[in-house]
Amino acid sequence: MRSVYLDNGATSYPKAPGVGEAMANYITNIGCNIARGGYQQAYDAAGRVLEIREKLNSLVNGPGSRNVVFTPGATAGLNMLLKGLLRPGDKVLTSPMEHNAVLRPLEQLKKRGVTVELLPCTDRGELILEGLADRLTPDVRAVILCHGSNVSGTRFPIEQVGPLCRERGIFFLADAAQTLGAIPVDMTAMAIDGLAFPGHKGLLGPQGIGGLVITDALASELEPLLSGGTGSMSESLDMPPFLPDRLEAGTLNLPGIFGLGAALDYLEGEGEALRIREHKLAGHLWARLMELEEDGIRVLGSRDPSNRTGVVSIDFLKADNAEMAFRLEQEYGIQTRCGLHCAPLAHQTLGTFPQGAVRFSVGPFTTFEELDYVQDAVYRLLLE
Ligand code: ALA
Repeated sequence: MRSVYLDNGATSYPKAPGVGEAMANYITNIGCNIARGGYQQAYDAAGRVLEIREKLNSLVNGPGSRNVVFTPGATAGLNMLLKGLLRPGDKVLTSPMEHNAVLRPLEQLKKRGVTVELLPCTDRGELILEGLADRLTPDVRAVILCHGSNVSGTRFPIEQVGPLCRERGIFFLADAAQTLGAIPVDMTAMAIDGLAFPGHKGLLGPQGIGGLVITDALASELEPLLSGGTGSMSESLDMPPFLPDRLEAGTLNLPGIFGLGAALDYLEGEGEALRIREHKLAGHLWARLMELEEDGIRVLGSRDPSNRTGVVSIDFLKADNAEMAFRLEQEYGIQTRCGLHCAPLAHQTLGTFPQGAVRFSVGPFTTFEELDYVQDAVYRLLLE
């Protein structure tokens, strides 16, 4: 039976050409640490790491390559932002469409005296902008929003929210887990102070590496979540005050960074064409599944295709979603993610709690023919 991978929202597959080779080359032929040893191989490896920071900074039009901090992934970065910034008595605004990578750290912070308020969304997971400015009161320390929902595939208008926050001196934090690489992110134009991203989704890199890009203004307020050796200012028992060292304690995931570097090299040439292709693929899948709405499914999320990411989730109205996802895999080889997608409040907002939904998520290497096959498979299941 054929196999159709539609779980790119969880992780991209296949990875960009060259990623595996770059990682293997690092392990086999380079191997050394950086910012510690005083020999040429370590300097060369450090040079490549700096080059990769530069690529990431220019991809997001960020404040500078030293403002790029490597993390194990988006979850680690989001924890570093939220727990490093928010203190008892602070208020933070977020949305019910967030992933648990945001909601669970916030829940911990609530127990330490941080006030968390949810901004309203429609039942299609769209952020309601009306009234937002009135909620941005002087007691709000930060706003954190996803750029795209991992459940509804609805894109948030963060380019409108960021400037409203900046005008008021409120830090604006963005979770680009579902968008970076697939949808343009411009930190300067969007007035983002802290951007968290994974390397293994839209950037087509390996798991275990991601990052933060943060403004100097935010960095000066951020307490490091981890402390330890940086290879710099070793005479001090405090973390260095400068980036990226302040937030990068311990040895970096260098095989991961080299793999991500190869993915970024590839995206420099192909990224724009891939973004356009993925957008078309996502629109195609959405349209094919929308055609089946009258046959017994509900397609979640925005009805405006220009406002959508590569995620399309459906709710089978007369059948169990978990069983349908199982049968899609067993009978058609279609690999999806079913359930609550680590985003319980998103499902409550969309009216799919507790049953969850079946999520298809395209990547740039998905084909249009695979998506027609998905429509056919879903239709066949609905006919039974
Ligand atoms: N957050 C990822 C997903 O939505 C893992 O599947």
